[in-house]
Amino acid sequence: MKNEIDRVLFSKEAIALKVKEIGLQITEEYQDEKNLVVVGILKGANIFLSDLIREIDIPLYIDFMAVSSYGNSTESSGVVRILKDIEIDLTGKHVLIVEDIVDTGLTLEYLTSNILSRNVASLKVCTLLDKPAKRKSKVKIDYIGFDIPDEFVVGYGIDYAEKYRNLPYIGVLKEEVYK
Ligand code: IMP
Ligand code: MG
Repeated sequence: MKNEIDRVLFSKEAIALKVKEIGLQITEEYQDEKNLVVVGILKGANIFLSDLIREIDIPLYIDFMAVSSYGNSTESSGVVRILKDIEIDLTGKHVLIVEDIVDTGLTLEYLTSNILSRNVASLKVCTLLDKPAKRKSKVKIDYIGFDIPDEFVVGYGIDYAEKYRNLPYIGVLKEEVYK
């Protein structure tokens, strides 16, 4: 796997520090809310969510939603399909979407309008990585780990064609792997 990585963007240690920082911020901002539901977007946000919730020091619920957007390509199609829906009733809940990476924003636009239609008390969005270069939708992101340039990254839950999710760091995938 390692020789298919062009360079490391964020080490395991750098990610851990950032996750701690975001967890602290969420802890402070949701201090008085009793009904926080953290919704992880599968599969990419799985590792981030697992680490993040252990840095949040208030009671919370977790749930997951799985959507398909890319297939085996490296570009978003904008067509989003729900593969697995949330099981918790979100009515009156404070929902925090946890994403791995926001690129065009089309997936997030779909997710936020879908969740907002469920009569939630509030909705915020947290993403580990933000790639604003090719944004096609004006989505609001409340918590951002790192801004990254327009390159294809993998690791720490993030895949290319389902591979590389288990890399402990985030790196840029060599173009020759997908070109
Ligand atoms: P968007 O709809 O273009 O914002 O795409 C969002 C989704 O595409 C993310 O949740 C990722 O699953 C995937 N994605 C976007 N950029 C990358 C990348 O650089 N590497 C791997 N997956 C990515
Ligand atoms: Mg994703």
